[in-house]
Amino acid sequence: MHSESIDSRAGPSATAIELPEPAATDAFGRRLAQVLARWKQGLVVSLIGDLGAGKTALMRAILGALGEPGPVVSPSYTLVEPYTVAGRNVYHVDLYRLADPAELDYLGLRDINPATDWLFAEWADKGGSGLPPIDIKICLEYVGCARRATVDAMSERGADFWAGFEHP
Ligand SMILES: Nc1ncnc2c1ncn2[C@@H]1O[C@H](COP(=O)(O)OP(=O)(O)OP(=O)(O)O)[C@@H](O)[C@H]1O
Ligand SMILES: [Mg+2]
Repeated sequence: MHSESIDSRAGPSATAIELPEPAATDAFGRRLAQVLARWKQGLVVSLIGDLGAGKTALMRAILGALGEPGPVVSPSYTLVEPYTVAGRNVYHVDLYRLADPAELDYLGLRDINPATDWLFAEWADKGGSGLPPIDIKICLEYVGCARRATVDAMSERGADFWAGFEHP
């Protein structure tokens, strides 16, 4: 895994990270977890990418590295999987099957404390304005059989978070 310059499709501050094989996605998740382990604030991350791009795989790596002992399953059917790791409430949501943003009311996301909890959302755009503001956007795209992640900070808090990421 190595970091690259700018992805022209994304914002001017976007960083592209090549992920040549699944192990690189795991390593990227572990590095994100290192920043999270030191992060005192809440965080909202939008995970963007086609079916099978690696959004859930990245979450598995992040949560595993943070010490989640159990399996990290895709929230495609439950829409939300809550965890408590590193002393934090972490919500992993997948809104692909959300028919109407109003359904968000039934997912318990109202309980999220934006000051301390972490929310990772696959298909966040389906939630309309029902989700809290996004701090970090991570886009995963296919590059042949491999993947590329493009990371974009969307808020001051997101920029602070991303500044703590240590590139290999
Ligand atoms: N860097 C990589 N290179 C090649 N394959 C990868 C890479 N990272 C992950 N994969 C593979 O891609 C697949 C990703 O599946 P995953 O369920 O994580 O996708 P997803 O983006 O969550 O899809 P969905 O939108 O259906 O939830 C897995 O089979 C995983 O092994
Ligand atoms: Mg998924």
